[in-house]
Amino acid sequence: MAKTIITPDVVCKIEKSGNRYNAWSTDGVKMTSEITSGCRKNAYNGNYLIGRFPSSNGNKGFAWRRVTDKVMSAMGENFGSPKSSVEDVPSSVDVPSEHAEVLSFIHSSYGLKPKGLMMTELKWKYLIRSAVRGKNIMMTGPAGCGKTMAAKAVVNSLDRPDYYFNLGATQDPRGTLIGNTHFDAADGTYFSESLFVKAIQTPNAVILLDELSRAHPDAWNILMTVLDYGQRYLRLDEQKEQATIKVADGVTFVATANIGNEYTSTRVMDKALMDRFTIVEMDVLSEADESQLLNYMFPNVDSAVLNNVAKIASLTRTESSSDTARISSGISTRTTVELCGLLYDGFSLEESAEVSIYPQYDSTGGVDSERTFVKQIVQKFCDDGSSDDLFNEEEMAEAESTN
Ligand SMILES: Nc1ncnc2c1ncn2[C@@H]1O[C@H](COP(=O)(O)OP(=O)(O)OP(=O)(O)O)[C@@H](O)[C@H]1O
Ligand SMILES: [Mg+2]
Repeated sequence: MAKTIITPDVVCKIEKSGNRYNAWSTDGVKMTSEITSGCRKNAYNGNYLIGRFPSSNGNKGFAWRRVTDKVMSAMGENFGSPKSSVEDVPSSVDVPSEHAEVLSFIHSSYGLKPKGLMMTELKWKYLIRSAVRGKNIMMTGPAGCGKTMAAKAVVNSLDRPDYYFNLGATQDPRGTLIGNTHFDAADGTYFSESLFVKAIQTPNAVILLDELSRAHPDAWNILMTVLDYGQRYLRLDEQKEQATIKVADGVTFVATANIGNEYTSTRVMDKALMDRFTIVEMDVLSEADESQLLNYMFPNVDSAVLNNVAKIASLTRTESSSDTARISSGISTRTTVELCGLLYDGFSLEESAEVSIYPQYDSTGGVDSERTFVKQIVQKFCDDGSSDDLFNEEEMAEAESTN
């Protein structure tokens, strides 16, 4: 699981000049005096690049070593020519320490966002920046808007050891976050610590806490000290000799909470816990973005139909957020993606809606039910399946209006 390719902060190419072997960094800075002559000579004769790596023994800050192909591919290809800048390479994702480097990394990070994830550049950069700065991040937004997807994407983009915990799915928060006490006839009672304990002791780890809002309140209590910037420890009350475990340097937490943007988060989650996070709110996609995503994901499905799906979703979202809403929630992106999967497999729009959309809406109340309302919207786009003309602006305005 852990991806620990260590990348150098400076890479040098060696050139021979007279009887000297000069080292030039990719920025064009002469580094000869920093590197031993033997090391430079070997690199020149072996025709390889050398890089300045953080030292493992801790006495000296760094060590110059050969840059292997693996490290090169982790860093990108831009190292052959002097002048190309190390900071410009987006896949060089060791946590940068210099301010200029951090700035450059954040502002060139949009290229790290997977194409299939729709998220504005600003939100993505904010997410990356919060991660690089070691903030506890909480992704919020309504169901199926991409919180888990974005959290996983940011974890993948930073080439740091990563751990995933789904707190919504666990029945046993203490076992998941601390560990379990077992009994064995030979050894008696013993304690086995959780993967989470290992995770928080891994320097620079990125730890995903999915569905934190659905977690048991015990989990929130356990996490309280772990997430607090002033405390950063986990209490292992089961284990007497070692009462607390310190969170290692550089550990970043990314949590997701299924909290509608329309709610104040504290209504759903403990305020003290929420206060420990930087909130990154996932936007519900606009009709244009939804269309773009669906067309990107389903290039073989008729684009006009995909655009209609985006329109349907958008109409339900507008309606659900209006003051006099007749439906309590809009169709999520998760649902539109599922629905288009059905279209791709040969189901009609009407059939797809029937199985993927309608069950989400209450049918009590007959003609006044939420389900009937949503059906009416869908049907405007289904009547004979072919013509966009069926959808007229008046009807759309009517559906969007709050009366
Ligand atoms: N912004 C988005 N960009 C691309 N795909 C998206 C987006 N939002 C949702 N999806 C699609 O919906 C699916 C579900 O998204 P995801 O699991 O991230 O939602 P979530 O916000 O975590 O939902 P929940 O609140 O139920 O946990 C994704 O697999 C993807 O196909
Ligand atoms: Mg999720």
